[in-house]
Amino acid sequence: MEKWMTIAELQEGRRRCKGGVGFVPTMGFLHEGHLSLIKKAVKENDHVIVSIFVNPTQFGPSEDLEKYPKDIERDMRLCRAEGAAAVFLPSAEEIYPSGYQTFIEVTELTRHLCGLSRPTHFRGVCTVVAKLFHLVQPDKAYFGLKDYQQFKVLQRMVHDLHFPVETVPCPIVREADGLAMSSRNKYLSTAGRREALILKKALDDVRDALEKGERSGHALQTIMQETVASSPSARLDYARVAHGETLEDLEGEIEAEGTLFALAVFIENTRLIDNMVWSHD
Ligand code: PAF
Repeated sequence: MEKWMTIAELQEGRRRCKGGVGFVPTMGFLHEGHLSLIKKAVKENDHVIVSIFVNPTQFGPSEDLEKYPKDIERDMRLCRAEGAAAVFLPSAEEIYPSGYQTFIEVTELTRHLCGLSRPTHFRGVCTVVAKLFHLVQPDKAYFGLKDYQQFKVLQRMVHDLHFPVETVPCPIVREADGLAMSSRNKYLSTAGRREALILKKALDDVRDALEKGERSGHALQTIMQETVASSPSARLDYARVAHGETLEDLEGEIEAEGTLFALAVFIENTRLIDNMVWSHD
């Protein structure tokens, strides 16, 4: 497996990749969720490139950029074991050189859900992913659906900017007890780790209510809010019932499959997200 530390190394290495290229952009500290993306990419492409870059522009001023967990040696071992062809590990200075002032914004889909509490987040995500697509020139790029809104925003960006890249959505990977995998789970204390199960419980309560025939968007949203409120220390950022494509709130009767149930909750000081897309099977 190759290790490319600079854009020049990436470009030179990329020229040597003949055939289909799959790309898995990450911020490192890889877990089974990331590995599921790499595994799928390895099955579907001749070469897989993984990037590891903790992207400063997607963190707000009071967020965890400085303490974001890192273990590059372990990440490299995991990428090699999964069959990645190369890992791209650029520096922040190279991605955002001094005087940098070019950003990509998806204007509508980012007005909802996480975009409300993290107003500059998706601008940073879109900018870095657009830059990475431009540099890596993949045929397919793989994203986990825990970040459902991120996937929809990036899909829109790819369409609007005519990137010749297929964005591949990959299912949420969960711990045995149901907690969605996230690099940020590492911040949780033992008690916090237990409390974090409240996100999945809120989604399970919604599924139970749907199975019993509840179809009011407002009532289903209230169920999520009440479940989170039943936890002694969880602090709700949002719980929303939304249209799975437009991400707009659905307050009235929900009929169609594809409705999104999404929530963000602070456990201790860690903001966790989870979601479920309603389907009948
Ligand atoms: O999902 C992530 O890890 C990041 O938002 C991404 C897509 C790698 C961009 O920095």
